[in-house]
Amino acid sequence: MSEPATTNRTIVVASRPTGKPGPENFASRTVPVRAPVDGEVLLESLYLSIDPAMRVWLEEDPGYVPPLAIGDVMRAFGVGRVLAGRYDGLSAGDYVTGRLGWQSQPTLQGADLNKIDLELGTPIDWLGPLGTTALTAYFGILRIGQLAAGETVLVSAAAGAVGQMAGQIARVHGARTVGIAGGADKCALVTDEFGFDQAIDYKAEDNMAAAIAAACPDGVDIYFDNVGGEILDAALTHIRQKGRVVVCGRISQTAGHRQGLYNTGQLIGRRARMEGFIVSDFADEFDAAQRWLAARIKAGEIHQKIHVLDGLAQAPEGLRMLFTGENFGKLVVKVAD
Ligand SMILES: NC(=O)c1ccc[n+]([C@@H]2O[C@H](COP(=O)([O-])OP(=O)(O)OC[C@H]3O[C@@H](n4cnc5c(N)ncnc54)[C@H](OP(=O)(O)O)[C@@H]3O)[C@@H](O)[C@H]2O)c1
Repeated sequence: MSEPATTNRTIVVASRPTGKPGPENFASRTVPVRAPVDGEVLLESLYLSIDPAMRVWLEEDPGYVPPLAIGDVMRAFGVGRVLAGRYDGLSAGDYVTGRLGWQSQPTLQGADLNKIDLELGTPIDWLGPLGTTALTAYFGILRIGQLAAGETVLVSAAAGAVGQMAGQIARVHGARTVGIAGGADKCALVTDEFGFDQAIDYKAEDNMAAAIAAACPDGVDIYFDNVGGEILDAALTHIRQKGRVVVCGRISQTAGHRQGLYNTGQLIGRRARMEGFIVSDFADEFDAAQRWLAARIKAGEIHQKIHVLDGLAQAPEGLRMLFTGENFGKLVVKVAD
């Protein structure tokens, strides 16, 4: 185990993005490590997550989580190792997940951290195929989507963290799966590595409604929407009777670039529904879902591609990459081994 450093490297919020977020919205600060008081532990961050939701968290009023102030350490999930502690449930050497923030040596409340089971997966697995984005896919497909075997599932941002897992979880449950992704390389990943039946390159299509109709000739039972906007509108045109639109994310709809929907009328005639959710709605069921995912991973039925950036300083650039589609899989930064 590394010796605790005396300094904590942090990345703080410098400004609120007006369009796509990126390095210009953040600043680096090095501060002294804070010794834990009763109830707290000092951690060494190993891997930190980069998530599209961070753009929402940077808004003055994010709506579903408390706002971040300018100068705050950027909020982020992560996995770390306990270096020292004054909390009964955790000892030096334990591995934990939680809201570590973009910082190298955070001091946090022990009660806010979850000790991870290394029998189920490695530390990085707990941000990847056992982490929040995998759980989002799991509950989105099974609980919001109410998938039945034999149905057709269409997934946008299908090469990304949530999308690749949504397609694989649907396949394991007997669905026919079609993924939408940007570019030929990502489409190859979607079919060849994640096992979708077909992929649509939205960047090469000028008529997405026609492309979806060709790939899903009997219509779409579940559209798992990660992007919103024009692709959502196109998917609505092919929703089946009693179809479900799982509203997971809307990465195409940044501030100043919002589009209306024209095809919501399809929900009426097709008796279909759209439903949004936040993964934490299902927090009581995370353990069971993680055990199911770990078993499928061990059986070789599901895997997650993780895109690792080296070093905490890369985190702001990583956030920018999510909005330009430069990430291939679940994006994390590696802070330490
Ligand atoms: N509801 C929840 O609880 C919950 C939890 C976690 C995540 N989410 C949401 O799930 C979605 C996916 O998150 P993730 O972490 O898995 O990210 P990700 O899919 O790994 O990365 C984002 C991807 O979005 C695509 N994208 C970016 N701009 C786009 C645009 N204008 N139009 C179409 N596609 C675009 C890019 O893929 P291409 O190269 O294919 O364009 C990019 O790689 C996000 O919307 C996120 O907010 C929701």
